[in-house]
Amino acid sequence: MALLEVSGLKKVFKKNKKNYNAINNVNLLIEKGECLALVGESGCGKSTTANVIARLIKEDAGTVTFDGNEITKQRRLKPVGKDLQMIFQNPQDSFDPRDTVIEGVMQGARSYGIFNNGELKERALNMFEYVGLKKSYAYVKTSELSGGECQRAAIARAIICEPKLLICDEATSALDVLVQAQIIDMLKRLKRDKQMAMLFITHDLPLASALCDKIAVMDHGEIVEEGKTRQVLKFPKHQQTRNLIVSVRSVYDGTENF
Ligand SMILES: Nc1ncnc2c1ncn2[C@@H]1O[C@H](COP(=O)(O)OP(=O)(O)O)[C@@H](O)[C@H]1O
Ligand SMILES: [Mg+2]
Repeated sequence: MALLEVSGLKKVFKKNKKNYNAINNVNLLIEKGECLALVGESGCGKSTTANVIARLIKEDAGTVTFDGNEITKQRRLKPVGKDLQMIFQNPQDSFDPRDTVIEGVMQGARSYGIFNNGELKERALNMFEYVGLKKSYAYVKTSELSGGECQRAAIARAIICEPKLLICDEATSALDVLVQAQIIDMLKRLKRDKQMAMLFITHDLPLASALCDKIAVMDHGEIVEEGKTRQVLKFPKHQQTRNLIVSVRSVYDGTENF
């Protein structure tokens, strides 16, 4: 059984008093330990898809089955639990600026009540090492971290309970290129060491191809093409995929070879 199965997902928003399908009939599969990129232009519905999967917003139709449970069955919206974690574009937003970094990191596990305080602290400090944060940062305020450091802390918090699926929504888009590369290396390591599955959301095709086995291309709320990353990028079938490839080529002056 797949780790994540998304079927016929739909979300309607109102725009200028008219109903508008932010996403429509979205189907996705992620196997255990697999990394799927969801790519597409800004506004095409990537975050809406992620937010419905993570139970941050309610779908209007369709189902999400995670780790054998149909999570869309529950009427009440609440985060899925320790096995599904998410990181966002602006990590500062998800920390209380008055908290110390270690407090922020421990929060990821505290609510699940599976570790006592001693274990929790030890795990958090191990996470610091794993994500490449100096341990001397443990007791500074989260507001004092740089963007890259803060994203490392957000990843530490997300992986402290070793989730089965990590959703990354434009998690490196706000970082400069060097820091972005370091974070991608870390995510690669995470995938390799812990067999963590990922839904990696980005508008950046080279990033998607650096990390992900499979790719799904979204356009106007629908998945228009999907397959193995190499295959899709080498032989794109849909115009929107070609557009995304061309926009990258122009940035890299045509020399970049996926
Ligand atoms: N809370 C909301 N209320 C109304 N419209 C929304 C809301 N969230 C997203 N949208 C609209 O839904 C569409 C998809 O948005 P989003 O999923 O954020 O796209 P992406 O992440 O691909 O940039 C956009 O047209 C956006 O304006
Ligand atoms: Mg988005």
